[in-house]
Order: sequence, then C-alpha cells, then structure tokens
Amino acid sequence: MESNTLHHATETRLPLETLLAALGPSAVLWGADIPERNHNDYSGLQPSPPLAVVRPADTAGVATALRICHAHGVPVVPQGGMTGLCGGARAAPGQVALSLERLVGIEELDAAAATMTVLAGTPLEAIQQAATAAGFFCPLDLGARGSCAIGGNLATNAGGNRVIRYGMAREMVLGIEVVLPDGTVVTSLNKMIKNNAGFDLKHLFIGSEGTLGIITRVVLKLFPQPASTMMAVCALRSYADVLALLNSARQNMGPLLSAFEVMWPDYWQFAMRHAPGVRNPFPGDETNYGAYVLVEALGTDPVQDAPRFERWLEGLMDTGAVPNAALAQSLADGKAFWRIRDASGELHPVWPQHLAFDVGLPVARMDEYASRCRQALQAQFPGVQSLFYGHIGDGNLHIIVYQPAADSQPKDQVNALVYGLVREYGGTVSAEHGIGTLKREWLGHARAPEEIALMRLIKNAIDPKALLNPGKVL
Ligand code: FAD
Ligand code: LAC
Ligand code: ZN
Repeated sequence: MESNTLHHATETRLPLETLLAALGPSAVLWGADIPERNHNDYSGLQPSPPLAVVRPADTAGVATALRICHAHGVPVVPQGGMTGLCGGARAAPGQVALSLERLVGIEELDAAAATMTVLAGTPLEAIQQAATAAGFFCPLDLGARGSCAIGGNLATNAGGNRVIRYGMAREMVLGIEVVLPDGTVVTSLNKMIKNNAGFDLKHLFIGSEGTLGIITRVVLKLFPQPASTMMAVCALRSYADVLALLNSARQNMGPLLSAFEVMWPDYWQFAMRHAPGVRNPFPGDETNYGAYVLVEALGTDPVQDAPRFERWLEGLMDTGAVPNAALAQSLADGKAFWRIRDASGELHPVWPQHLAFDVGLPVARMDEYASRCRQALQAQFPGVQSLFYGHIGDGNLHIIVYQPAADSQPKDQVNALVYGLVREYGGTVSAEHGIGTLKREWLGHARAPEEIALMRLIKNAIDPKALLNPGKVL
C-alpha cells in the first residue's frame, strides 16, 4: 500500500497538490488513507480504489474541487452513501471520488411551506427522523435508509416502499442546488409548489446518476404525519387473486393505500429460512400458497381507520378471496412484517455474488413473466436458485438469481435471458435502481435510439469533456 505522501506520476500529482492546497488535508485522502467504503457500492462488482477521495465540507468546496479536476482533465465520480446497486458510485482507476459525506445537516425546516432544506450527504433516516420530530412526515423510505444519502436518493430517483402513494424521489423535491462539471454552481432552491418560469431544471439532474452535476442541497416537500398505520400480510392462492386484492385495496382505501408489496413463495421461504429475526405470521398453516402480500395504509383518523381496515380484510376472508391473513396489532407487528419484505438486505451472506434485477413490467402480466423467466432459468442453468418479489403495486419486480454450482455467476447469459423477456413484454430494465455500469449495455432494451441520442446530446452539452461520472448510464 502506498503511504500518505504524494508519490504520484506528474500528471496526477499536480491536480492532487492543487486540491490539497485549495481544500486542506482533511478534505483530500489518497493512498492507504482511502477508506474501503469508497472502493465500492453495493453492486457486488470488484472493489476499485479511486485515485483520491475528495470530501469538501460545503458547496463552495465541491465547486472548487470540480473546477480543479476540470482544469486538469481528471474524471470525478460522485459518492453518497454507497448503497447503489449498479456500480454508479464506483470509481475506475485514475478517477477522483467526490464524497458528499461531510455535507450533512438540515439547513431549514419551513413549517408554513412544509419544506425542508437539507445538505446532499445527509442520511435518509436522519431526514425522516427530523421530519417526524417537527410534526411532519418524509415518506421516502427504502431498506438502505440508515446508509443512503439524500443526494444519492435523488441522483438515482429512488423508489422504495411507498411509491404507490407518494411517488418516487422525484415527486418529493421542490428545489435543488447542483455543481456542474466545470465547477459552476446552479442554486435553484425553489420552495413553491407552482413555478412555471422556464425549464424545470431539477428534473434533468434527478435520476441522472451523477452524470450531469453534483447535487449539494435539496428542498424536500414534507407531508402530514399519518395519524394511523394499518398493515396486514395476506396469503393468497394465485396471482389473479393478487390483482383482485390490489383492485379491492385501491377501491376501499383510495389515497390511504401506501404499500402493496408482493412476495412469491420462493422469496417467502428464503425470508423465513435465512433472514435473522423473521417469524412466520401464519404458524401452523402448511398450505402451499401462490403469493404473499404486504398491504399498508396510512390514515388520518386514529379512531375510524383501523376498524375500517379490519372490516375490509374480514370481508375478504369471509368470501374466501383471502384464505389467510395476519393483521398488525402493534407497531412491533408492523415492523416484523416489514422485516419479511426487507429480507432482500440479507442476501449477500447467504448467496454471495448473486445477480439482482429491478425490472418494470405491466402489472397484469407480471406472474406470466415470472413463470416464464423461472422456467427458462431452470432449463438453461440446472440447479439455479431464483427469487421473485417486489413493489408490484408500482409495476416493479425484483428478481434474484444465484447459481450455487458455479465458480462465477453466469451474468451475461442471465442478463440476456431476463432482459430479453423484459423487452418482449414492453417493460424496463430498471424500474428504480438505475443503470450505472451494470445495465449500460441493456439500455437499448428499454429506450428508443432517439431517446438515447437525446440523452447523449444533453450529456455532451453539460459535460463536453466527459469528466463527470464517465461511462455511467451511457
Ligand atoms: P450512492 O450509491 O453513493 O450513489 C448512487 C449514484 O448516485 C451513483 O451514480 C453516484 O455517482 C450518484 N450520486 C451519489 N450522490 C450524488 C450527488 N450528491 N450528486 C450527484 N450524484 C450523486 N433503491 C430503490 O430505489 N428502492 C429500494 O427499495 C431500494 N432498496 C435498497 C435496499 C438495500 C438493502 C440496498 C443496499 C439498496 C437499496 N436500494 C434501493 C438502492 C440504493 O439504496 C438507492 O439507489 C439509493 O438511492 C442510493 O443512495 P446512495 O446515497 O447510497 O448513493
Ligand atoms: C428492494 C430493493 C432491493 O426493494 O430495491 O428490496
Ligand atoms: Zn425495490
């Protein structure tokens, strides 16, 4: 390992010395001082140490770092919480990682506007807690909440557990501050719901995976704190019954419906067997069910909402539409139900190097796709394990594939199979995690050549030297 002195080739020594002089030693790490967390995201790719980690403490520092790197032609990779699943935050050799880890904190909570202005490196969970403490609600939620940062959430336009009601990260943002690849700061911290004065620039950067600008500050929309939380896990015979339940939940709960998460039996059994602390909400029931659904509703009436939810579920059980269901009687029950659904976070130790997908498909044909995909996987890779689950109310299916017998996973062939079927069904290769490097060659399975050409045009206009997160998405 290299010691913490600048023994670099001349072409890298100069920019590093300039960064060090401009930002100070606490903001520039290289060699053995680079923490392992900056080597990789959660994609399962080979770890790759960046040339240096630059960790400015404010927007001006981010601008200075980008200006210096731009002048010296050094590529820069934005890094947030490093929980991304497609290699977007992983730096290649010779690239500088720009970490937002020191841009942490809540700048302002405007109760009248119901907004919160936060720094981009703030962990999502800290934002949720601050919103709750102020009597508001931040509905963006995903399994990585403790580690992911709001800048990363926006850069990936994260989805998560409550999209069915509140939309994706994009819908929760009113304003944004970004630093462009040449160091120009664009402060667009709009707090107004309505603002049609020109292009809505924030949407260019949200979901662009750090390829167009580095997000430094965000104005988030806050929502009223729910006064009641209702939750149940339902065991169902078939996917047709899942669709009927979704329809019934929408009809009965309207805007209160906040999650509709489906687990196929393969995923359910994995969770029961392998996720620490998970308990079966249907003890003693040996039936082979066709699907399991977690339904959540967030209400405004602490007296009426829960009995109404219960009556709805009882009605479905009385008619036989739902053969078995467990109703959350407490906060602890609710957490236990989510633990089953969040078992995807426990996959790495059990199936290291597994392949993970986040495809989008027409909801009506989801089970048909899953069956065909499962069968084709079995036929092509005997003994392969696969799990199917996801945010089915939002048309987003997650697939996990693991070949236990293989020294290395048959990634390319599995990708071809999964994405080939996605194209046939008119779906998308990424519903929520983004493209990064892992799905780059499959972008054309989901977007038209003209769409990709326009993306390139925008990228070239904002980053003509191709220095910001090069090789990601496009
Ligand atoms: P990083 O991994 O650090 O970066 C992600 C991308 O954004 C990279 O391309 C990076 O260059 C760029 N980036 C980061 N910060 C900035 C910035 N400030 N400005 C510009 N670009 C930036 N995702 C979902 O959508 N839904 C889920 O339900 C979900 N569940 C998950 C559960 C687990 C257990 C894990 C590990 C991941 C899950 N993810 C999920 C994926 C991941 O958490 C999200 O993509 C998250 O939004 C990434 O945030 P991050 O701060 O970790 O970003
Ligand atoms: C989930 C992540 C992987 O929904 O997106 O579990
Ligand atoms: Zn997901």
